[in-house]
Amino acid sequence: MTSSLLPTYARAKLAFERGEGAWLTSTEGERYLDFGAGIAVASLGHAHPHLVKALAAQAQRLWHVSNLFEIPQAELLGRRLTEASFADFVFFTNSGTEAIEGAIKTARRYHFASGRPEKFRIITIEGAFHGRTIAAVAAGGNPKYLEGFGPMPEGFDQVPFGDLAAMKAAIGPQTCAIMVEPIQGEGGIRAIPLAQLQAMRQICDAHGLLLIFDEVQTGMGRTGKLFAYEHAGIAPDIMATAKGLGGGFPLGALLTTREAGKGMVVGTHGSTFGGNPLATAVGNAVLDVVLGEGFIDRVARMGALLKQGLLELMAKHPTAIAEIRGEGLMLGIAARPPVQEFVAAALKEKLILIPAADNVARLLPPLVVGEAEIAEALVRLEATLARLGGTGLRRGAAE
Ligand SMILES: Cc1ncc(COP(=O)(O)O)c(C=O)c1O
Repeated sequence: MTSSLLPTYARAKLAFERGEGAWLTSTEGERYLDFGAGIAVASLGHAHPHLVKALAAQAQRLWHVSNLFEIPQAELLGRRLTEASFADFVFFTNSGTEAIEGAIKTARRYHFASGRPEKFRIITIEGAFHGRTIAAVAAGGNPKYLEGFGPMPEGFDQVPFGDLAAMKAAIGPQTCAIMVEPIQGEGGIRAIPLAQLQAMRQICDAHGLLLIFDEVQTGMGRTGKLFAYEHAGIAPDIMATAKGLGGGFPLGALLTTREAGKGMVVGTHGSTFGGNPLATAVGNAVLDVVLGEGFIDRVARMGALLKQGLLELMAKHPTAIAEIRGEGLMLGIAARPPVQEFVAAALKEKLILIPAADNVARLLPPLVVGEAEIAEALVRLEATLARLGGTGLRRGAAE
């Protein structure tokens, strides 16, 4: 049957009808180990009882009111996020890219409100991914996502990954901010060294620029800290987060300090659905678990265990695996065979991985993943490598 969905995705011929924890059951009744979590979204796994209960309870009472009224669930979630982070204010969105749009607008408005409206240019890093709106693809600078979409909005200057000298050289009188993912996700689990994140903070302070972190993928405990900036011991001025925040319910957030957010006054920004009672009730339920005693430490422990297993796998199969990357439960296998083949072979072993750039297969399991599931994933990865021909050089041999 032909699909009525606009064909913008290369979908696998596979559908799921239920999930539990780190497991998904297909419409054919087969079980898959989900180390993709809907691209780092299902942070508490599938059908987490606390989330199901919170969603159902809120659905019985009230789904939506507009932001023309107070929304106690959003107030509570906002307060909890500011108390747990560098930020003073939160603006809720429906997606990561909408949070990024808000971050860009907030940074530009800061300079406008400071009497420097000429400062609007934002420095970004090659390999970045900030989402799919026009401003977000312009910021990301990936030619694949720009082609054919007409003139791009002005104001994004890209510098090579890891090149602080180029970053400094790109600063001009119109520069407003630096925007980076602490660990590039779509770009192939490429972590910006902590010393460079710290240097970016200094550069921003020295030049009166704002530092924006895109923690859409790295946020909400994924890297073994609530937010990845904590690893570097510095804080941004503005941050976008999403994905894991709603645990599967569309929910994002733009966070800002009071100072950086000073231009965002009544009437400057809005979102019909952003932060509605249903979404923020679920967000609060996610935080109940993620901020619970020992939860994030456990993510770090499970991440270390998985990484250790992957490193052992690499030692056994150096011709198939070039590198293991990442932090916490945001890990990547830099594969030698083409990553699409690697991910397809894993899927045949009923293990879900997510491809990324730089020929990297991402492992982004639910944060509730346990030791037994990690051991099972490693067994399935062994089988994946066997399927690829052991060395990874002889492809599809075990088919
Ligand atoms: C770092 C980063 N920023 C922004 C986005 C865009 O988020 P969304 O797809 O929710 O709009 C993504 C999505 O993958 C992301 O990984």
